[in-house]
Amino acid sequence: MIVEPRIKGFICTTAHPLGCSENVDRQIAYVKEKGSCRGPKKVLVIGSSTGYGLASRIMATFGCGADTLGVMYEREATEKRTASPGWYNTIHFEKKAHAAGFYAKTINKDAFLKETKKEVFAEIEQSLGKIDMVIYSLAAPRRTTSDGQVFQSVLKPLNEKFTEKSWNLTTNEITEATIEPATPQELLETVKVMGGEDWQDWIDGLLERKLLNENAMTIAYSYIGPELTYPVYYNGTIGMAKKQLQETAESLNKRHETSGLQAYISVNKALVTQASSAIPIVPLYFALLYKVMKEKTLHEGCIEQAERLFREKLGENQVVTDEERRIRVDDLEMRPDVQEETMRRWNLVNTDNLEEYADVKGYWDDFYHMFGFGFDNINYEEDVEI
Ligand code: NAI
Repeated sequence: MIVEPRIKGFICTTAHPLGCSENVDRQIAYVKEKGSCRGPKKVLVIGSSTGYGLASRIMATFGCGADTLGVMYEREATEKRTASPGWYNTIHFEKKAHAAGFYAKTINKDAFLKETKKEVFAEIEQSLGKIDMVIYSLAAPRRTTSDGQVFQSVLKPLNEKFTEKSWNLTTNEITEATIEPATPQELLETVKVMGGEDWQDWIDGLLERKLLNENAMTIAYSYIGPELTYPVYYNGTIGMAKKQLQETAESLNKRHETSGLQAYISVNKALVTQASSAIPIVPLYFALLYKVMKEKTLHEGCIEQAERLFREKLGENQVVTDEERRIRVDDLEMRPDVQEETMRRWNLVNTDNLEEYADVKGYWDDFYHMFGFGFDNINYEEDVEI
């Protein structure tokens, strides 16, 4: 089949198998070039197939030499429809990991469900013994709990509506967007999906079954960002879920002190991923930030972030955190000179000067690459097995 990108709103509904492999290969090559790094040897990645989870898995394997078990929720191909990018990424990652002599297995099931956890625990018992590190990198639109209730996560401000400049990705115009505030129920549901409850269930389950090594570490990913996006992010529904994630880290540390478990939140950089491109207003900030960070040669993608997290922040013996015990890989994004310049451009940007101030091409390159499109060395006119 000849596979072309089919864009619907902020998502692409097709994925190119060879392009997804290329995406994984480039990340592996980056990590290999940086050289090996001391780190965990047996890693469970929950949300392992795209974005930050995939990059962490690649870093763990090809940087630290770890065996990995992944959990993802991805769509397989049918005769007429391509698989989702995470599915192709994972097939290719496993192939590369196996060829390099590593254990790499992925369970493609809903991570929120008890049955999935049971299956993962059984697989660890059988194949890995004990785990050194659990990365929690889920970005999910909904969660079904064991009693069959469905909770939806929304990206909305609290209490009052939020109006700001926004980049219309379809017309390429700078307009204003207004996001209505969340209802109390929407807030509750978002925290249920993206908060720490499920992370805690995973860790409690692993510890109960004695599947974590002494002094094992678990890290969940979070975001803070600039004050500009606080209403829709940090102080919005997702921010409240992330605050609960942080509280979960604290309570995991307290409750499991005797096992030596260390739970951390890592605050990562704003990057175009399937999860983040869905947030209104935010893409314009991303495109302005990308340009500023590229000009200052500070720009990073998921793999550069994962590499720096493992090498610089998890360090030899001491984990590097801020005063609130959070790992900050968003340190470069939040540097005062980067923020000042991004905000200056935010105030000036309009439809006519968009290309001048924002990295429009960089944004779209990242977007297309996520789905396996836009790589120069792939012939997209050729038939490909989906
Ligand atoms: P992503 O959309 O690229 O990846 C999400 C992963 O979760 C995929 O592997 C997907 O298969 C998996 N997943 C979703 N629902 C699932 C389910 N029910 N069961 C099993 N697996 C499921 O997202 P991204 O951006 O990498 O986000 C990962 C984490 O990083 C999130 O917590 C996000 O808030 C955080 N983060 C993202 C930033 C960004 O700018 N993209 C910045 C800082 C933090």
